[in-house]
Amino acid sequence: GSVVLAYSGGLDTSCILVWLKEQGYDVIAYLADIGQEEDFDAAREKAKKLGATKVFIEDLREAFVQDFIWPAVQANAVYEDRYLLGTAVARPCIARRQVEVARKEGAQYVSHGATGKGNDQIRFELTCYALYPEVKIIAPWRIPEFYNRFKGRTDLMDFAQKHGIPVPVTPKAPWSMDANLMHISYESGILENPKSHAPADLYLMTTNPQDSPDAPDVLEIEFKHGVPVKVTNVKEDVSKTSSLEIFSYLNEIGAKHGVGRIDIVENRFIGMKSRGIYETPGGTILLSAHLDMETFTLDKEVRRIKQGLGVKFSELVYNGFWYSPECEFVRHCIAKSQENVEGKVQLSVFKGHVYILGRESPTSLYNEELVSMDVQGNYDPCDASGFIRINAVRLREHHRLQGFSGIK
Ligand code: ARG
Ligand code: SIN
Repeated sequence: GSVVLAYSGGLDTSCILVWLKEQGYDVIAYLADIGQEEDFDAAREKAKKLGATKVFIEDLREAFVQDFIWPAVQANAVYEDRYLLGTAVARPCIARRQVEVARKEGAQYVSHGATGKGNDQIRFELTCYALYPEVKIIAPWRIPEFYNRFKGRTDLMDFAQKHGIPVPVTPKAPWSMDANLMHISYESGILENPKSHAPADLYLMTTNPQDSPDAPDVLEIEFKHGVPVKVTNVKEDVSKTSSLEIFSYLNEIGAKHGVGRIDIVENRFIGMKSRGIYETPGGTILLSAHLDMETFTLDKEVRRIKQGLGVKFSELVYNGFWYSPECEFVRHCIAKSQENVEGKVQLSVFKGHVYILGRESPTSLYNEELVSMDVQGNYDPCDASGFIRINAVRLREHHRLQGFSGIK
């Protein structure tokens, strides 16, 4: 049968390609462009040379931003309070197109090079099963004949040498990386010791804040329905309006000022803790700006409910359940909450930080007259006495029970 392999152009998936052929499959190589630095033409040639019957290189960047990054922005998606989910949102995007290719080509199988200990295998496969229920999945890193043959990088290199797979000339970084438009992640290898610090030259996306410019960039981000529709660099007469351009520009500015670096220990779905380092420059700017737009325009109680949904959404996405009934429901509710999240935020980006400067909105619930210390507004201060006394009922009862001596 035919198998559509999620091919990266790297050593692992090149060996997998050849190995799958050895097992008797016709291999269709599928490479998604989601904004990673890659020589796609070279990857195409390489896959052909290794005997792929067809090669699909799909530019998914615009879809990645609109269908996956924007919902994450609307949700303020953050896993375990810090990780902005750059890898987790990319997986359903890649796998969605992969099964489309498989269906179109009449392929019954899909394959990927994700490790058997990680999250990515789950995200890939749950998406494939959800969107192509009859699909059969080949995960070589979980097949003993494969992983017993390829115990380390030397085995892969030897196999490559024997099978005419170009062997990488540049030595591999001593950690594993995943790069896309939204972020780069670094884990495994020498980073596995959670105590050891990342070397300064690990970070490929952002400038070290120590070396970043001594003058800020001041941006204005305009939102509609909780997603950015325009970004202006206030001092430089730069203005971006397409989704991909907006996100790429925010990455550029964030990267320049060293925004969005984190070093964390996180809980994998599979049940183990892992140490990861991430840089998410544009996503971090957007998170600050969007949070600001929300408190300005959302009803207080709606905002609280929605905040809980955002936590749920993040967990579902992290665990690979983008395409699930519950995640669809949560996305729908979050999108509904964003109807009036509209307006402009001005902020400055400087030395690894995002500083909010001001905001305006046609749908704001902020009432300058109501809140003003100088104007009465539609508000009677006398009402506050009753409001406070009613709130005190419970506290007074509690105190009556505890007695004065109970106070610590
Ligand atoms: N730990 C992160 C996550 O689960 C990053 C995974 C990186 N994946 C990779 N194949 N290097 O989302
Ligand atoms: C994963 O969680 O699937 C990625 C683990 C890694 O490549 O280090």
